[in-house]
Amino acid sequence: MKVPLLDLKPQYHSLKKELDEAVLRVAESQYFILGPEVEKMEKEFCDYLHCKHAIGVSSGTDALLLALMAINIGPGDEVIVPTYSFFATAGVVSRLNATPVLTDIDPITFNIDPEEVKKKITKRTKAIMPVHLYGQSAEMDPIMKIAKENNIKVIEDAAQAIGTQYKDGKCVGTIGDIGCFSFFPSKNLGGYGDGGLVTTDNDDLAYMLRIKRVHGGEQKYYHKVIGGNFRIDALQASVLRVKLPHLDKWSEKRRANAEYYYELFKKAGLAEEHGKTKFDDKNMVLLPQPVNKGNTGVKNYHIYNQFIIRAQKRDELKKFLTENEIGNEIYYPVPFHMQECFANLNHKVGDFPESEKASNTSLAIPIYPELTKEQQEYVVQKIREFIKG
Ligand SMILES: Cc1ncc(COP(=O)(O)O)c(C=O)c1O
Repeated sequence: MKVPLLDLKPQYHSLKKELDEAVLRVAESQYFILGPEVEKMEKEFCDYLHCKHAIGVSSGTDALLLALMAINIGPGDEVIVPTYSFFATAGVVSRLNATPVLTDIDPITFNIDPEEVKKKITKRTKAIMPVHLYGQSAEMDPIMKIAKENNIKVIEDAAQAIGTQYKDGKCVGTIGDIGCFSFFPSKNLGGYGDGGLVTTDNDDLAYMLRIKRVHGGEQKYYHKVIGGNFRIDALQASVLRVKLPHLDKWSEKRRANAEYYYELFKKAGLAEEHGKTKFDDKNMVLLPQPVNKGNTGVKNYHIYNQFIIRAQKRDELKKFLTENEIGNEIYYPVPFHMQECFANLNHKVGDFPESEKASNTSLAIPIYPELTKEQQEYVVQKIREFIKG
């Protein structure tokens, strides 16, 4: 049996008529960049996310870069980021000649640890950039508290987390000062190429984001500030508009698939509980877990952009699954502090133990909405075979 890590074709076929019509509508209009399709999309995202401003941009990376530009991050500034994330989270800070201040993660959520954030605040700190990794919210209450006490901004990297909710149903990306989303095709809501979104409830920031999206001017050829080309195409907007009404249904399917994995791993004797952080005889595979450390008792709404397991002989398991035609991927094999391009930050192995453990043991297995029960059973059966023989 073949089980790809992600298969986008069933989704396309289920919406083929509407998607094809949307693409043709843009072709007919010959209006390719920004314009009415993008404006409608932005309004629909405001409604979906319950935020005041949603601004379509060229990618998730550009959303982060534009957000930092909107709050005037530059040389001498420090931005606190997790050391374990997709490269863009730290890359955009360095591109503005500011310093990414790397921080360790919480071992259960894979998200930045607020206690560690506290230790990193200096006079130069201008922003904290929590990432809602794999589709689960970072622990936002303490992060917002730290930011408030120190008068610094919070830019949420919600690239993997459209529709994820923090406690009490608040959508991630609308909690900090600016939220950043990606519509890379493998995200829960994917376009037909690169695309992204920035969100804010602050009118002044929205103004800056809008003008910096188009080279820093309200009027063509008149530039108030330095911006860039961070525009989204009408074609992407048209596709996203067709898909957005289906997003929650797809995320629910991913959540149901996650529940089934929990059941299967337990039955296979590989993981008695999910959310464990240490391997033992009853938990030979560590499973992810939606958590809430706050006091409301409401769990984070995890949308499982990825389902990340942890295994001790991870590299051998990866090879075994690949040989058995089961899609898998290591996110992220090298934390930022061990990346060649960040050698100037002067870190060494051991500086961020939880991130290093995550890099050394984590493995994504298929979780996409259309995955069948039989495919999930096969995945767990093969993992069992590898671990228990
Ligand atoms: C956490 C995170 N941040 C930023 C990005 C960048 O998004 P994009 O690929 O749309 O530029 C991604 C996308 O992979 C991501 O996963």
